[in-house]
Amino acid sequence: MNATITGWGRYTPQAVLTNDDLATVVDTSDEWITSRSGIKERRISHIVNSDMATAAGRQAIAAAGLEPDDIDYIIVATCTPDRQIPSTACYVQTKLGANNAAAADINAGCTGFIYALSMAHGLIAAGTSSKVLIIGSERLSTYLNLAERSTAVLFGDGAGAVVVEATDRDEGIRTMSLGSDGSGAESLTATGLGTNFIGTEARLAIVMDGAEVFKNAVVRMGDGVVKAAEDAGWDLDEIDLVIPHQANIRIIDAVRRRIGASEDKIFANIHKYGNTSAATIPIGLSEALEEGTIKPGAKLVLVAFGAGFTWGASAIEWGDRVDPVSKVEVDYGEPDRTALEMMIDRQRAFT
Ligand SMILES: CC(C)(COP(=O)(O)OP(=O)(O)OC[C@H]1O[C@@H](n2cnc3c(N)ncnc32)[C@H](O)[C@@H]1OP(=O)(O)O)[C@@H](O)C(=O)NCCC(=O)NCCS
Repeated sequence: MNATITGWGRYTPQAVLTNDDLATVVDTSDEWITSRSGIKERRISHIVNSDMATAAGRQAIAAAGLEPDDIDYIIVATCTPDRQIPSTACYVQTKLGANNAAAADINAGCTGFIYALSMAHGLIAAGTSSKVLIIGSERLSTYLNLAERSTAVLFGDGAGAVVVEATDRDEGIRTMSLGSDGSGAESLTATGLGTNFIGTEARLAIVMDGAEVFKNAVVRMGDGVVKAAEDAGWDLDEIDLVIPHQANIRIIDAVRRRIGASEDKIFANIHKYGNTSAATIPIGLSEALEEGTIKPGAKLVLVAFGAGFTWGASAIEWGDRVDPVSKVEVDYGEPDRTALEMMIDRQRAFT
């Protein structure tokens, strides 16, 4: 059986935090953030991660024309779980009412969605699942320390989801390649959460060697696209759209130059959301479909790099349907504070 994406959805929180908002509380400027990263604004969630994930998942299930009970496996890719135990996926399972689904999280940093996709691919190839819901969902704003300007400006909240189904049609996931190098662990890590920090004064924070991450991301993501195309038997110029992880527009542009593609062949929405880690690719996929950028039969490459280090890429040949079978409204209410107010309140935890 082939494994193909039949449903997609996203939840992007309503509250917008602009670079100018951040510059009122962080020693930074819109000019610096835009020129170094391409980010203009990001979203700050007033709901918990599993609610964001559920909202995106509900849309993906409707878009596939399915009911929650049809799903047999839920995989949530996240490094910002609601709790360590149980998995965020178990909260999503009960919030969706997906009564026939197994549920588990996976943490591969910003590569989490690609790792989850490979699991769905494997479950379907093995015949143990036929309808897998995979969700990339992150509430990274909770990790941000406004006193750390080198990381506070880069990340945001959001969720994206897809349904992967078994099919005998000649379409879907053509290749998967994954890799890791744990010797890069200290270059991108989070302190304050995890058993190593029990009894310590360590604060919740992202700690990153930006230049080291940047360098590795450019190489691994560029290699990933080239390998995906080669393994699929495609020439690079046959790729219709690359949806790369959104960490920095300069990384995305370096990948584009590496494969000699024009700008319209590389999806970018980082200006709107910043880096939402495991959520960037499914949010991007959902937006690209809504905008009509993905046509029936399109040749896609999804590619990511993240904490670990981890990396992964997948070549996908899209099917005929580029519209959702049905749509659902999700309503988690309005935030009662602005994005900036939410961030300032959270910052009190650091001081
Ligand atoms: C973080 C990143 C944007 C920094 O860009 P850069 O061009 O490498 O910038 P540098 O780190 O060299 O910093 C340059 C200067 O800007 C300063 N700076 C850092 N953050 C700043 C901010 N928010 N506002 C203003 N100045 C800032 C630094 O202090 C440094 O000042 P100095 O030269 O006086 O010491 C970039 O390295 C990056 O995107 N890395 C990869 C991040 C990533 O992909 N993470 C997730 C991977 S999944």
